[in-house]
Amino acid sequence: MKTIGILTSGGDAPGMNAAIRAVVRTAVYNKLRVMAIRRGFNGLIRGDIEEMSAASVGEIIHRGGTILRTARCEEFNTPEGVKKAYNIAKIFGIDAVVVIGGDGSFRGARDLSRLGMPVVGIPGTIDNDIACTEYTIGFDTAVNTVIDALNKIRDTVTSHERINIIEVMGRHAGDIALYSGLAGGAENIIVPEVKYDIDEICKNLIQGKNRGKQSYIMIVAEGAGNAFNIAREIEEKTGFEVRVTVLGHLQRGGSPTAMDRILASRMGAHAVNILLEGRINRVVAIHGSQIVDYDIDEALSMSKGISESMYQLAGILSI
Ligand code: F6P
Repeated sequence: MKTIGILTSGGDAPGMNAAIRAVVRTAVYNKLRVMAIRRGFNGLIRGDIEEMSAASVGEIIHRGGTILRTARCEEFNTPEGVKKAYNIAKIFGIDAVVVIGGDGSFRGARDLSRLGMPVVGIPGTIDNDIACTEYTIGFDTAVNTVIDALNKIRDTVTSHERINIIEVMGRHAGDIALYSGLAGGAENIIVPEVKYDIDEICKNLIQGKNRGKQSYIMIVAEGAGNAFNIAREIEEKTGFEVRVTVLGHLQRGGSPTAMDRILASRMGAHAVNILLEGRINRVVAIHGSQIVDYDIDEALSMSKGISESMYQLAGILSI
């Protein structure tokens, strides 16, 4: 193992740069070369590759986004595309590829590993939807961004004694909604993992208003339904005025929190250490306070649900 290639793929996440920095510096410290592969698997197919140095990752630990850029690559979904990528990696003398991204990116990495290219995955996505790890890089920052928005929305919602629905990202997962809802004291949290009953929500709303609740904030995960449709249903059933805020890509940007920088630094270093130990085709994860790793096939076969106890707690605390 002499040369590691590194790429970021899929949606960007705050902390990806801190992970890149950790991979590069740990590798350089251990006398390995690191090649930057730009724009995800696209860059591997096109040979958009350049050597990195310890200095090339200076001044990035605090920056959101990814200096390597990212892309979703259709061509890489074909056997020909994967073969092309494998050949280019070989031409550039790459002995292993570190992939920072989500499940889709790890599936790409696994395809590459099946041709004989060793890979290591680092979970980087705001969605926190990778089953083998308790937390993904970027999730904590996204949740803090949502809370910041929620606090601001709460001010105006209280002034007008209104109802506001905040739609958050998460693709098919409800973790951003659940964590930000619990931390922000949302009155209701709608996630794809739990079926919701609109009549029950309306009843809580009416009872809350009757008890003198001055503001009512609902968090809706994008995978659970359309916030505007839910708002219309509530207005029709209760006659209350409902406003909707879709936070969108705002949640993907910004300077990473300390938690994300530390997670990214530890995971990045661990990825290189795995390769130095001669272990291959792994996905890095965190459990409790321990950084661990799993076989990539095993990691991809796991499934993740929402924390039921947290969901119930959020319900109890919002009465
Ligand atoms: O996976 C990260 C994520 O931000 C999801 O939460 C969201 O559904 C999706 O990416 C949006 O993708 P795009 O930026 O391609 O619109």
